[in-house]
Amino acid sequence: MLINRRQALQLGLAAFTGITATSLTKTIHSNDNPKRNFRVVGQSPLRKRAVARGFLSGAAGNYPTLSTDAALRNLFAQECSILVPENELKWDTLRPAIDKFDFSKGDWLAKFASTHRMYFRGHTLVWDQALPGWFKEKVNHQNAENILVEHITTTVKHYAGKVHSWDVVNEAIAIPYSNRPDGLHPGAWLELLGDGYIDLAFRTAAAADPKAMLVYNDRWLDYDTPRDNAQRAAVLKLLERFKSMGTPVQALGIQAHLDGSETRFNPRKLRTFLRDVASLGYKILITELDVVDKKLPVDIARRDRLVARAYEDYLSVVLDEKAVIAVLTWGLSDRATWHSNYNPRPDRAPVRPLPFDSNLKRKLGWNAMARAFDKAPKR
Ligand code: XIL
Repeated sequence: MLINRRQALQLGLAAFTGITATSLTKTIHSNDNPKRNFRVVGQSPLRKRAVARGFLSGAAGNYPTLSTDAALRNLFAQECSILVPENELKWDTLRPAIDKFDFSKGDWLAKFASTHRMYFRGHTLVWDQALPGWFKEKVNHQNAENILVEHITTTVKHYAGKVHSWDVVNEAIAIPYSNRPDGLHPGAWLELLGDGYIDLAFRTAAAADPKAMLVYNDRWLDYDTPRDNAQRAAVLKLLERFKSMGTPVQALGIQAHLDGSETRFNPRKLRTFLRDVASLGYKILITELDVVDKKLPVDIARRDRLVARAYEDYLSVVLDEKAVIAVLTWGLSDRATWHSNYNPRPDRAPVRPLPFDSNLKRKLGWNAMARAFDKAPKR
């Protein structure tokens, strides 16, 4: 039987048609189902829906937008029971000079959180990025350990009793860039201190605030791709290593920067990973959820539907695991999202990765989150 390209695509036979970029795009978009129902019961905000199921819902917010935008502040207060500073607790903001700490912006956000009865998360104590300008020049093999310990001790003590959890180490594993069997990212801290820096960081944080939940946070854990499969395996090994070494880590943070055009989503593999992590005794937080819409059609109805689909499919799997205690998006409204700079669309149309649009109106992505929250098993 002879079929033309269009019929083949409809039958899902893209592989036999000699894939071109256009036909692949069409295949991705054939995942769009205009009839899919994103209906939500009632009007209550995400914060309330999450609490009803026994977990926390929140977002990353930053000082420049929250300190100047009252409407955005109200939206955070309404939707979030947990807040994380997007940049304000990173080294480059916190450490204007090697001998100076500036907690002013972080403190402002901590106060904003407590005023609105939100928990407050810390992000992040050890990361190869967002290091200050002086770092390269001033930090060397001799002083690196002291500087790291001093940084963690001062920062964690400053917020002791006020934080829900700390992302102590961020993105230590990076399969595509590593030539080590453990997948560790060949970044500044590994180079300066060897692989012991991770254990050192957690022990130092635990000593500075014995009550804060200490989190290992990482990316690329979401899809059934060679990179993500290897990343999940390496993260699981690291978590096992923490157990055998007695490293004080209580939770895994999964960033979950999703890609709305990715078709290789495998609920079974993701579910198994979460169960494996939970079986080791760890809690799990979804720490930076958003959905990149770079490769999605420009049409807003279709684009929002595909973004919503990614949110609901992902969160349905994730929230089925009762060890998941919090879901935070990276930003709340398309008015302020890092993807405007980091993942702009080729057609320059404004990006729409978050549950609220730039007018702070709920999008289908919000419905998707609310639906997944409502059907999550109670913790
Ligand atoms: C991003 C912020 O959103 C941007 O504003 C900043 O310019 C760069 O960092 N993974 C992380 C976050 O752990 O800290 C990053 O945040 C996004 C990727």
